[in-house]
Amino acid sequence: MKQLFVFLGLVAFVMACGGGDSVSPEMLAAAEKTYKQHCVVCHGPDGKLALNGAKKFSESTLSQGERETVIKNGRNLMTAFGGILKPEEIKAVAAYTIELGKK
Ligand code: HEC
Repeated sequence: MKQLFVFLGLVAFVMACGGGDSVSPEMLAAAEKTYKQHCVVCHGPDGKLALNGAKKFSESTLSQGERETVIKNGRNLMTAFGGILKPEEIKAVAAYTIELGKK
């Protein structure tokens, strides 16, 4: 019985890691909260508000990595979130902006 729990724990751990570099649905769900808390004011709930010269996410051509850099370091009127969000949160919220852009 004890082994079973250890095994289930391992499965949960592997699932939480999302199999390496990809962003899991759980991370995206958490990123939605991050986004609503920190990003909606300028980017809007659908990523199309485009306040202060921000680009609509649906028109953005930036890659996942480039988005992470903008979010971490900021750019022009965009706030730098490197000191506010954890690296995993930045990664997840960057992926979330890609998802928003598809809508
Ligand atoms: C104070 C307003 C503001 C907030 C808050 C803000 N942004 Fe921005 N964001 C901007 C502006 C302005 C730009 C355009 C920067 C420029 O001039 O290059 C931008 C650009 C971006 C870009 C690059 C888009 C592109 O294709 O050029 C991404 C990605 C982005 N923001 C994501 C986020 C995320 C994620 C958050 C929340 C963690 C966030 N932003 C919070 C104002 C904001």
